[in-house]
Amino acid sequence: MAQAPVAGSQVPAASSIRFPKGFLLGTSTAAYQVEGAYQADGKGESKWDFLANKVGATQFVIGKKETGNVADNMYDRTQYLKDIALMKEMGVNAYRFSIAWSRIIPQGTGAVNAKGLAHYDQLITDLKAAGIEPVVTLYHFDMPQPLMEKGGWNNPESVQWYAAYAEVIFKHYGQKVKKFITFNEPYIEHFLADYMMNVEQSKAPANVRYAAAMPKAHNMLLANAKATAVYHRLKLPGMVGITLNLSPCMPFDANNPADVRATPLQDELLNTLFLDAIYKGRYPKRALDSLQKYNPAFRPAPADMALLAAQKPDFLGINFYAPAQVKADPTAPMGCTWIGNNTDPAPASGNGPNRPDQLYALLMRLKTEYGNPTTMITENGAAYGDVDEAVVNGKINDTHRCQYLLGHLGALQQALADGAKTIGYMHWSLLDNFEWVFGYSVKFGLIGVDRTTLARTPKQSYYLYQSILKQQPKLP
Ligand code: BGC
Repeated sequence: MAQAPVAGSQVPAASSIRFPKGFLLGTSTAAYQVEGAYQADGKGESKWDFLANKVGATQFVIGKKETGNVADNMYDRTQYLKDIALMKEMGVNAYRFSIAWSRIIPQGTGAVNAKGLAHYDQLITDLKAAGIEPVVTLYHFDMPQPLMEKGGWNNPESVQWYAAYAEVIFKHYGQKVKKFITFNEPYIEHFLADYMMNVEQSKAPANVRYAAAMPKAHNMLLANAKATAVYHRLKLPGMVGITLNLSPCMPFDANNPADVRATPLQDELLNTLFLDAIYKGRYPKRALDSLQKYNPAFRPAPADMALLAAQKPDFLGINFYAPAQVKADPTAPMGCTWIGNNTDPAPASGNGPNRPDQLYALLMRLKTEYGNPTTMITENGAAYGDVDEAVVNGKINDTHRCQYLLGHLGALQQALADGAKTIGYMHWSLLDNFEWVFGYSVKFGLIGVDRTTLARTPKQSYYLYQSILKQQPKLP
């Protein structure tokens, strides 16, 4: 087997990067992070409208209130047509965006909003006219707030609420959209974001609070299975998948026995919990035992596990940013941490170390342990902070992001050569946007956005990606 590229030492030349004909190469965004227009055309309130405006979710982290009320103004057609023109100039053949449930069904259940449906109809038409294939996520962290008030994903009815919403989407867009993604990153929403933001205002100890995520993740996986069944029942001419954040786990310090011991459990909680549920219809024992210890009420019914086992996605969306470098920490939930651990020298990317070899390793693991499923890289990107983002003479020289991009495309090319069945790569993100609790302070875009004027400035990484996209084999 060919050697995997190793970070820093084997960044390929841009001119050597080639993907098969028909391979999707694009960028990725999500509704709340870019659309703005948070009350336009009959839109209902979503979880993030509520968190940003009424709870002040960014306040705790960046010390000021920021919201997605305007974001990148991409709901506006005049604006998004300019962004599509930039995408076209860059040379992408795909674009992953998400539909806001609260635009389609403002109360979460019940009446469908024709204006919401029409907005995405137009966007899809405009993308296709530019030769860009839409890759559509149905849910990216933004449950309608009226459903949050009924218990959100804790409420077993959430499975049906979501399945009904998914049916509306599949029936309406199913002939013109060929790639659907049911959910984005159940782990991050439930085990990380909700836990960290203490959304439920619980005073419970950390382990109990963390374990409370499991029923929500379970309901989301059931909703995924139900929606997948709906999609297949409708016999639509495309594919449906789910996107997981996957991060191979390694000890932060390989010479520290405590870090080494903590790593397998972290791997189960982060990766195997979801992969096994989706591909094997079961939860890994060590993770399940640990969660049940602090949440004994969580006992998945055999019928639930049968449903999970029966519905396989047509492809697995993978958000890969970095491996998880695991530290033992008795004060952390389950005795381990990974977020914020990064052994890279400064400047280091906020989402973890730049290790393209671990993307390769992940795809090889899926091949050997999960029957080599069809995959799509639905997010991959980096934010290095000010050092990469300064505008000098109208240019943004994001050299670290360029290295990151090159390394990961090289690793992906290698994985394909070694048998991975990956059908696309969507870079996160098309443009700087609302980075959740970090507001606009953390930037992932290939295109910079001036926060006052919303003017777009393509960065060096945009031009690098453009040069790579231009040399790809074209379909006749
Ligand atoms: C999410 C994106 C987010 C990105 C960068 C992923 O967890 O899907 O919404 O902006 O990571 O942190």
